[in-house]
Amino acid sequence: MDLGLKGRKAIVTGATRGIGRRIVEQLADEGVDIALCARKAEEVKETVAALEARGVKAIGEVVDVKDGPSYTAWIRQSAEALGGLDIFVPNVSAGGGMDGEQNWWNNFEVDVLGTVRGCEAATPFLEKSDAPAIVVIATTGAVETFMGPMAYNALKGGLVVYTKQLSQFVAPKGIRVNAVSPGPIYFAGGAWEMIEKHMPQVYEGTLAQCPMGRMGTPEEIARTVAFLASPAASLITGVNLVADGGFTKRVQL
Ligand SMILES: NC(=O)c1ccc[n+]([C@@H]2O[C@H](COP(=O)([O-])OP(=O)(O)OC[C@H]3O[C@@H](n4cnc5c(N)ncnc54)[C@H](OP(=O)(O)O)[C@@H]3O)[C@@H](O)[C@H]2O)c1
Repeated sequence: MDLGLKGRKAIVTGATRGIGRRIVEQLADEGVDIALCARKAEEVKETVAALEARGVKAIGEVVDVKDGPSYTAWIRQSAEALGGLDIFVPNVSAGGGMDGEQNWWNNFEVDVLGTVRGCEAATPFLEKSDAPAIVVIATTGAVETFMGPMAYNALKGGLVVYTKQLSQFVAPKGIRVNAVSPGPIYFAGGAWEMIEKHMPQVYEGTLAQCPMGRMGTPEEIARTVAFLASPAASLITGVNLVADGGFTKRVQL
């Protein structure tokens, strides 16, 4: 199936490592020009070079999505530099934790405002595309109780609600808005490798709940995102696509 992504233009936040990195590689392999950001200059530079080597235009900037004015200015500048915008993927998260109020502020500023501000800054460019799409990265921690009472899970849940609301609001402009909720995703240098090393019981307990006997890979999430972001998914908007290999046990009616 041709996804219809060739020649399109995407902005992806937090794309130097892990899931975000694999998303930009997957989109580049489909012929999409990319603008990406992260906080570490060397990793931004290396990722841009790796994407260019895949034959697409790639631009990157050191941006902390927590800094609203620089973040939204970067989105506007990137869309202009790319010559338009078809796809926006707010991927950055402040991650989980139960360290008290600080987690709530961090997850609100990074996960929630990083998504909301990004979508608002991207919309004037997206509405000029003939197949615009936003794919919000949520988590299965938003749809079932997981580990404990966490700002991460609760506020990602808020993003799933926001995704649905926004999808209705911008549908008349032709913009589709969906969320992808990954289950546990294992990769070198990622959170689950860290948990495996430092909290082996938590790792083993979580693995035992994966009916496929394994966690997911960044590739599996990247392919899911690429499909939802593509014109091939033209009738799909407002969904929260759970990609977790059966990790969650609820019935999604
Ligand atoms: N891994 C999982 O099992 C899993 C499961 C469910 C959902 N998710 C979701 O998937 C997304 C990606 O997770 P991941 O595990 O791939 O994350 P990760 O390995 O920690 O990578 C995060 C990326 O975002 C960048 N970043 C972090 N904070 C940033 C900030 N404030 N401003 C700009 N860039 C920032 C990082 O680069 P710098 O450090 O250089 O900024 C890096 O490129 C998140 O939304 C996460 O909640 C992950």
